[in-house]
Amino acid sequence: MKLNIAVLPGDGIGPEVTAQAVKVLKAIAMEFNHVFTFKTAIVGASAIEKTGVPLPEETISTCDKADAILFGAIGNPKYDDPSVDVRPEQGLLGLRKTFDLHTNIRPVIAYEDLLNKSSLKVKQIKGTNILIYRELTSGIYFGDKHYSDTEASDVCKYTRKEIERIAHQAFKAAQGRKKKLTLVDKANVLASSRLWRKVVKEIATEYPDVTLECRYIDNVAMALIINPRQFDVILTENMFGDILSEEASVIVGSIGLLASASIGDNHVMFEPIHGAYTKATNKGIANPIASILSAAMLLDHFGLYDEASLVREGVDKALKLHITTPDLNTKYDNISTTKVGDFIEDFIHNPDETNLNFTNIHLGQSTII
Ligand code: IPM
Ligand code: MN
Repeated sequence: MKLNIAVLPGDGIGPEVTAQAVKVLKAIAMEFNHVFTFKTAIVGASAIEKTGVPLPEETISTCDKADAILFGAIGNPKYDDPSVDVRPEQGLLGLRKTFDLHTNIRPVIAYEDLLNKSSLKVKQIKGTNILIYRELTSGIYFGDKHYSDTEASDVCKYTRKEIERIAHQAFKAAQGRKKKLTLVDKANVLASSRLWRKVVKEIATEYPDVTLECRYIDNVAMALIINPRQFDVILTENMFGDILSEEASVIVGSIGLLASASIGDNHVMFEPIHGAYTKATNKGIANPIASILSAAMLLDHFGLYDEASLVREGVDKALKLHITTPDLNTKYDNISTTKVGDFIEDFIHNPDETNLNFTNIHLGQSTII
């Protein structure tokens, strides 16, 4: 398969982690005879510094022409001042809006090998496997905004169509899983949530094999930590999905593991859920697995299931053998971002573990013998 991939490394740790995902995709292309071409473009704070805007026209055009976008991370504390009106985040939000990437899918899986890395109890999180469907192009993020020194507001608006399109995707996903869909809202207070409930309940009649439950965000925020296994597919609006998915990363053990796919009708983007983690830039401590797993979601999206599985096997192997960055590692203290990428790359070229020399990894030597 031929794929043109726009690579948007962004800011902070974005370039380091994205480089590992690209490395992994190149290894897949080589092993499976695909032709993947990569075109890099700027976004976020690095784009503001070069061009004055967080999402330059040239970046939009590169993404528009690509089959898929691989996004790193954006943000810089330099822009935290509330009176600043050009901010790196506008680059990411602009991409989502420009390409109408309305359906954001965030898998939350408690890996067996990482159960004791979570701050939560093993017995509570064991077996967790949740798919969060987060609406990504509307709601309070994109409603009318007003800001002055004495008053500010953000409007949360949803149309029926915006709810319908993601709801169908979420129901279909649930059909292929445990057939349970949890709609998360605040329908006891918000009018927009009441529309979500009405529309989603109507759509539920088209998926009689899926059990729908409608719950309030405050309750789900607690339930997700106490008993995450009760959830299968979670469907929710933009901001609730942002908050719940970051909360869910505690179950997995590190936010550096959570990948996502942002799907529109004509464009797709794959992005780790973490931010730019500016303080860690170029220290080699950033976990590249969220970016690598986002690349696996890219492969899945194009029907390259064996390829995606091989990437995930490589990730599983890295986790099993403690080939992980310091956020997860208590065994070795010198496994860098690049070493994790190298290990997974080597695994793709040579998945037969008898030919892999795992003992060399912490010495910085090749894992292929
Ligand atoms: C995410 C991020 C973004 C969001 C920020 C960087 C704008 O937190 O992808 O979860 O809020 O959507
Ligand atoms: Mn977030």
